Amino acid sequence: MTSNFCPVKKIRVKASGEYDVLIGRNLLDNIGSLIKEVAGSCKIALVTDDTVNALYADKVLLSLKNAGYTAVKFVFPHGEQSKNLNVYGQILNFLAENEITRTDCLVALGGGVVGDMAGFAAASFLRGIKYVQIPTTLLSQIDSSVGGKTAIDLPLGKNLVGAFKQPALVVCDVDTLSSLPKEIFIDGMGEAAKYALLDKKVYYLICGGEYAIEELVYLSIDYKRRVVETDEFESGLRKLLNLGHTPAHGIENLSGYTIPHGRAVAMGLDIILNASFKRGYISKNDYVNMLSAVKKCVGENICPYEIEKIATAALSDKKRSGDYITVIAVHGVEDCRPEKIKVIELAEYLK
Ligand code: GLY
Repeated sequence: MTSNFCPVKKIRVKASGEYDVLIGRNLLDNIGSLIKEVAGSCKIALVTDDTVNALYADKVLLSLKNAGYTAVKFVFPHGEQSKNLNVYGQILNFLAENEITRTDCLVALGGGVVGDMAGFAAASFLRGIKYVQIPTTLLSQIDSSVGGKTAIDLPLGKNLVGAFKQPALVVCDVDTLSSLPKEIFIDGMGEAAKYALLDKKVYYLICGGEYAIEELVYLSIDYKRRVVETDEFESGLRKLLNLGHTPAHGIENLSGYTIPHGRAVAMGLDIILNASFKRGYISKNDYVNMLSAVKKCVGENICPYEIEKIATAALSDKKRSGDYITVIAVHGVEDCRPEKIKVIELAEYLK
């Protein structure tokens, strides 16, 4: 990938809360002054996981100190298994013990798990305090840190408890992506493949070959901005962001969450593309080209489960409403449409 992108790009998101998303390099060194612009003088509660703590917490804390902040830090074990009621409760207790008040600010430093859980703590502690997202994985930079979805898991399913709460600022320092293990980077590329099918600009960027990663982050977030500004609470348009996610949730569930979310989304996209082709929504040529775009993102993408089993496992999905479930079908690049089907017909639909 080449890097000819200009230093810092800014995307302004105008939802129930208005905020900037900054995309660039070397931003962690200046994070204190960036936060000062949105949080002013206050106390900071930094929430992160053990992996990211070892890599970036000292840098962030130093920058916060240089900007005049007093900060306290909560660290929990990395991974989806931490996104539970117990760790969530520990974060709330930590905030209370450290006398975080309504005028203070929580800073979420890490990937999707950190952002979702710290965001939900910010949404619920004292009925809501300000929070800043510093996503450090590709998946969290291009998707989960923007748009205000916060959540924790229950034993019965992912993200079953949560709230919409927009952050006060999102800082995507793409330098953090260079520390990602390959599989975690590819996990983010699964969500990038979703944006490629939703947005022609992302599609042509990915199909064109060489590009700067900042550009992929920028275009994906800018697409998401347009969606979130139109339909923040997912009553219509925002459902498109669930493209590939119904089979993906089934796949994640069947794997006991050992197949990570973005990788499962890429497998889900292949399944949906196949279903869309079989139903005559896309031509053979388009089908082959779109499959190839997914492959450009994630490489080989072989789903280890049968469709019947995926469909059954997908039925605990939040997108289910009574006897119906909404699946996003592909009619072309940038032409994806929600389709409501009976849950008993899901397996047949996906075959
Ligand atoms: N990750 C999908 C959404 O934010 O709506």
